[in-house]
Amino acid sequence: MSNNVKKAEGKLGVLVVGLGAVTTTFMTGVLMARKGLAKPVGAMTQYDKVRVGKGADKKYLKYDEIVPMAKLDDIVFGAWDVYPENAFESAMHCQVLKEKDILPVKDELEKIVPMKAAFDKNFAKRLEGNNVKDCKDRWDMTEQLREDIRNFKKENGVDRIVVLWSASTEVYVPVNEKIHYTLADLEAAMKANDVENIAPSMCYAYAALAEGAPFIMGAPNTTVDIPAMWEMAEKTKLPIAGKDFKTGQTLVKSGFAPIIGTRCLGLAGWFSTNILGNRDGLVLDEPANFRTKEVSKLSTLESILVPEEQPDLYTDYYHKVRINYYPPRNDNKEGWDNIDIFGWMGYPMQIKIDFLCRDSILAAPLCLDLVLLSDLAARAGRWGTQRFLSFFLKSPMHDYTKGEVPVNHLFQQYAILKNAIREMGGYEADQEID
Ligand SMILES: NC(=O)c1ccc[n+]([C@@H]2O[C@H](COP(=O)([O-])OP(=O)(O)OC[C@H]3O[C@@H](n4cnc5c(N)ncnc54)[C@H](O)[C@@H]3O)[C@@H](O)[C@H]2O)c1
Repeated sequence: MSNNVKKAEGKLGVLVVGLGAVTTTFMTGVLMARKGLAKPVGAMTQYDKVRVGKGADKKYLKYDEIVPMAKLDDIVFGAWDVYPENAFESAMHCQVLKEKDILPVKDELEKIVPMKAAFDKNFAKRLEGNNVKDCKDRWDMTEQLREDIRNFKKENGVDRIVVLWSASTEVYVPVNEKIHYTLADLEAAMKANDVENIAPSMCYAYAALAEGAPFIMGAPNTTVDIPAMWEMAEKTKLPIAGKDFKTGQTLVKSGFAPIIGTRCLGLAGWFSTNILGNRDGLVLDEPANFRTKEVSKLSTLESILVPEEQPDLYTDYYHKVRINYYPPRNDNKEGWDNIDIFGWMGYPMQIKIDFLCRDSILAAPLCLDLVLLSDLAARAGRWGTQRFLSFFLKSPMHDYTKGEVPVNHLFQQYAILKNAIREMGGYEADQEID
C-alpha cells in the first residue's frame, strides 16, 4: 500500500515536562525494553493489530507494518522539572518500580538531568523545588523554553522532537475569550505578563509548537484546549493532543458506561472515588488543582449516556468524582465506582467496581503511544487537534466554539484510532466488524 507519510528517519527527541512517577516509569520501561529486559505491555503501538482490507484480502497488521513508526531505539529522552533529581534518583524516589527493574538502566537514567522548569508556584502550591528558571515575564519564559528545545536538538543530534506534559496538574484556568481565543491576544498576554491567564504549561506548548514539535497535554490543564493554541497549531502545521491520560477509573468508566447505554438500562447515579498517595495525589489535594481534574473526569459520562437522547433513562443522574490523598498507598491507587442503575419498570440495581490499580504503570504505555503517534501524525502532515488520539485521553479536545461534541465512548474512540492508522497507511477507512 502506498502512503504519503514521511519516513521515521533519525532520532526522535522526547522532551517531557515533569520528571516524576509517570515519566520515570515510562523512560525506565522504554530503556529496559530496548535491552530486552522488559515488555512494553499495554502499548498499542507495540502490540495492537489493525485489520486492513476486507473479505478474502483482509489481514491483521501491527501499526509499524501499516505506517512508518519511530522505533524504541530511536528515542532520546530529555526533561524539565522543578526538582533537580535525575531520572534515576526520581525513579527510585517515586517507588513505582522495584530497584531490580531500574538498576540495569541506571547509567542511562542518570544522564537524564532535568532542565530548569518554567514554573510559577501559584499554579501548584504544594511543590517546593528550586530547579526553576528566573523569568522576566511569560514571554521570556517561552523564549527560554524555546532555547532549551533548540539546544537539546543540537546537543543530541535529534531529527524530530515531541514535547509531552506529564507534570503536576496546574490550578484550573477558565477559558477567557479575551485572552485565549486568538493567537494575537495570547501572545499579547504573554508579553504583558498576565500571570493569571497564562499558565506555565501554555509557555511550554507555545515553545514546542514554535520550535516545530507536536505537543501533548497529559494532565487535565486547559493549556492547548483553547482556540489560540489551535490557531498556533494551524499556523505551524503541527499536531496537538490532550487532555489528561485516560488510565484507570475513567478507562473503566468509558468502557463500562456503554454496557448500560447499549442495553438501554437507566442510570440514577455514579459515584467515583479514589485514594492515592503519590505526589500527584498531594497536588490534587489542593482544591484549585483538583477542580481541573474534576472538570476533566466529569466530562466522560455526559457524552456516552446522553439525557437529551434518552430522557427516561438518563435525566438528572447524579455524577460525582472525588480524589483523596492517602499516603500509605503511594502510586497504588484504589478507584471505587458505585453505580446505581435501574431496569424494567424502574427497579433499582447496583454495580460496584473496585480497581486496585497502579497509576504510573497504566500511564507509561500511554506516554509511549501518544508520543509515537503524535510523531507519526506530524510526519503524515496532520495538524491541529488529533481526534484519533481521544482513545488515550480522559477529556478529548473538541471545538466547543462550534458546539462539537467529544467522543468518550472507548470503542468508538478505538474505531477512530484504527481508521486513522488505515488512512495514513493508504487503506480505506471502514466500519466493518473485525
Ligand atoms: N498516573 C496516571 O494515571 C495519570 C492519569 C492522568 C493524568 N495524570 C497526570 O500526569 C501528571 C504526572 O503525574 P505523576 O504521577 O507523574 O506526578 P508527579 O508528581 O510524580 O510528577 C510530576 C512532576 O512534575 C513536576 N512539575 C510540576 N510543575 C512543573 C513545571 N511547571 N515544569 C516542570 N516540571 C514541573 C513536579 O516537580 C513533579 O516532579 C499529573 O498531572 C497527573 O495528574 C496521571
